[in-house]
Amino acid sequence: MRIGIIGAGKIGSTLAHLFVDAGHDVAVANSRGPDTLRDLESDLGEHGHAATVEEAARYGEIVVVTIPFGHYRDVPADDLAGKTVIDTANYYPELDGHLAELDEGRTTSSELMQQHLGDAHVVKAFNAMRFDHLREFGREGGANHRYGIPVAGDDPAAKRQVFDLVEQIGYEPVDAGRLADGRKFQPRTAVYTADLWAGDLRERIGIDAA
Ligand SMILES: NC(=O)c1ccc[n+]([C@@H]2O[C@H](COP(=O)([O-])OP(=O)(O)OC[C@H]3O[C@@H](n4cnc5c(N)ncnc54)[C@H](OP(=O)(O)O)[C@@H]3O)[C@@H](O)[C@H]2O)c1
Repeated sequence: MRIGIIGAGKIGSTLAHLFVDAGHDVAVANSRGPDTLRDLESDLGEHGHAATVEEAARYGEIVVVTIPFGHYRDVPADDLAGKTVIDTANYYPELDGHLAELDEGRTTSSELMQQHLGDAHVVKAFNAMRFDHLREFGREGGANHRYGIPVAGDDPAAKRQVFDLVEQIGYEPVDAGRLADGRKFQPRTAVYTADLWAGDLRERIGIDAA
């Protein structure tokens, strides 16, 4: 599958490697342009290339947005219409600037991303594990004992696509519900960066298996 990745930092570059290792083709973009991503491009080999943000958005059958949340309005909505978009963002007010609707718990960062993207199908995933753990922990455990990755979204077909990707990189997807339920695994929750086995994560999030 072709996967676009907008954001080439700690999470973006980690996912790029994991997806290429799982047999996918990736286009990776940052804010400064593809010429600043030649080292990453060369590390990824023939199945990865650097791109502009718009190129990565158009390239991906699925597109990952993995940039600091405060910049979410820069993501090109038109290029993502109808696509599954994986949102890894976490709202850190000290970095992103305070938003009253988030500070007061009236909505979530992923729902704001969904509002901005309109016709895309936003799925929240890969936000709750540190990048260096994400890089390694998929290799641990066996078929019946894997780390869990919580996944939330409103579109069932988009969620299933993300479940598949989560599995392909060695984790067990844990269905956390609708996009609004992303609040169950955002910063300042018990499961955030807790690195739980899937069964424990499912129990702590308080929902049934996917
Ligand atoms: N670090 C973690 O362990 C971790 C874990 C889970 C989730 N997250 C979340 O995932 C997101 C990314 O985190 P990160 O740690 O990977 O960040 P990071 O290392 O700081 O990288 C951010 C990336 O986003 C790019 N970027 C920034 N603004 C952009 C824009 N307007 N358009 C396109 N690209 C833009 C940056 O490009 P330039 O360098 O060219 O500006 C950079 O490649 C954040 O929301 C974070 O909260 C992080």
